[in-house]
Amino acid sequence: MDKFLITGGRPLEGQVAISGAKNAALPEMAAALLTNQGVILHNVPRVRDISTLRSLMEELGVDSSVTHEEHGNRVEIEARQLLNPLAPYELVKQMRASVLVLGPLVARFGHARVSLPGGCAIGARPVNLHLKGLEQLGATIKIEHGYIHAQSDGLKGTNFSFDVISVTGTENLMMAATLAEGETLLENAAREPEVQDLANLLNKMGAQIEGAGTGEIRIRGVSRLHGTEHSIIPDRIEAATFLVAAAITGGRLSVAWVEPTHLTAVMGKLAEAGVRIDKVAKPVGSLETRAILTAEGPTRLRAADVTTQEFPGFPTDMQAQYMALMTQAEGASVITETIFENRFLHALELARMGADIAVNGRRAVVHGRTPLSGAKTLASDLRASASLVLAGLAAEGETLIDRVYHIDRGYERIEEKLTRVGAKIRRVSGN
Ligand code: UD1
Repeated sequence: MDKFLITGGRPLEGQVAISGAKNAALPEMAAALLTNQGVILHNVPRVRDISTLRSLMEELGVDSSVTHEEHGNRVEIEARQLLNPLAPYELVKQMRASVLVLGPLVARFGHARVSLPGGCAIGARPVNLHLKGLEQLGATIKIEHGYIHAQSDGLKGTNFSFDVISVTGTENLMMAATLAEGETLLENAAREPEVQDLANLLNKMGAQIEGAGTGEIRIRGVSRLHGTEHSIIPDRIEAATFLVAAAITGGRLSVAWVEPTHLTAVMGKLAEAGVRIDKVAKPVGSLETRAILTAEGPTRLRAADVTTQEFPGFPTDMQAQYMALMTQAEGASVITETIFENRFLHALELARMGADIAVNGRRAVVHGRTPLSGAKTLASDLRASASLVLAGLAAEGETLIDRVYHIDRGYERIEEKLTRVGAKIRRVSGN
């Protein structure tokens, strides 16, 4: 298993280009199952979750081809037929987002067998709302031998209100409803930019979706969708992670190809902590369609409390990285996690590096600033690993992070991007 070896204490300087959003690319690849024509996606990030979904598509009998482009990959998917409606446990356990094939498969082919995702390091993460919504759209759902069996003779539009806001739940039902007969209204829907980007793709495919990006999404079903071409939005979590990397090392980074409107909550919090963030009005080079943000770490970071919330609030996917930053801020900060019930595993690892963090249920209190010192650490999940990388960059001495396959799931070659801006980080292969 690969590890990262980081020698900390070097301020980062330079420019980093952000990749396409993994959490938009995943549902958008699944959306290609809704048509028998080719769907071409650009800016697909080169991360492991994407390879996992491609393997899953292969299991279904759907081929995809990948070409390297200057910015990410171009992925073409043509789901002419379905050879096998099965998403096996072996793949779903690697990536819970595999459940995103459920809605499209039932809507287009009328049947699907998708393994139920098991528990997860950060919380129970049930998919009950995905299932309840599909049932309300007219599918018959049975759970047998750990698998979801879904069947339908044709979905019918409905009004469905989410008890809890769910990102992939909204995406699954929105995709399914595109081919349902009549109109569907999704209430208390997720407003994340990735949901909006998916709706943009689906509309290009001929769907009739209004309101994506708000809590109420209206979908008028159509009888068929067609192929199209689409460029995926920048990854706001990767961008935010690099903004924190500049801040925690007291460096100055330009983070290119970002969408600032997706980062409002994070930028606000970083500003409160004393980080200077400027938007470069005229982006340069070939990435000109998006903005560049420069972040400059202050000599003294200030503690600032944060509570994770659904978009447009502060993302839970940035909580771990923000906690690493707060270990270097003067004063006490209270970090409240409202989305997942067990998302503080990184706190224990950060404590091993010298952080002073008290966790009580969904609340963590960080007392800073405590110097960090390099240590052997263990990554527990994707974003927790990113927080350990950030802590390692700020720590004195060497940090060894084990199980970096977690970080490879969602960050494209993070060690290469960091090396280019002055970090001393290398991948160590083997056991
Ligand atoms: C997505 C993101 C993930 C992010 C999360 C929250 C993808 C591929 N992943 O995950 O990176 O951390 O949103 O922003 O986009 N819930 C239920 N029943 C359900 C579904 C969800 O109770 O049927 C609960 C979950 O347990 C959790 C909360 O709703 O407490 C939010 O989860 P959800 O938005 O569904 O997360 P994901 O879509 O899995």
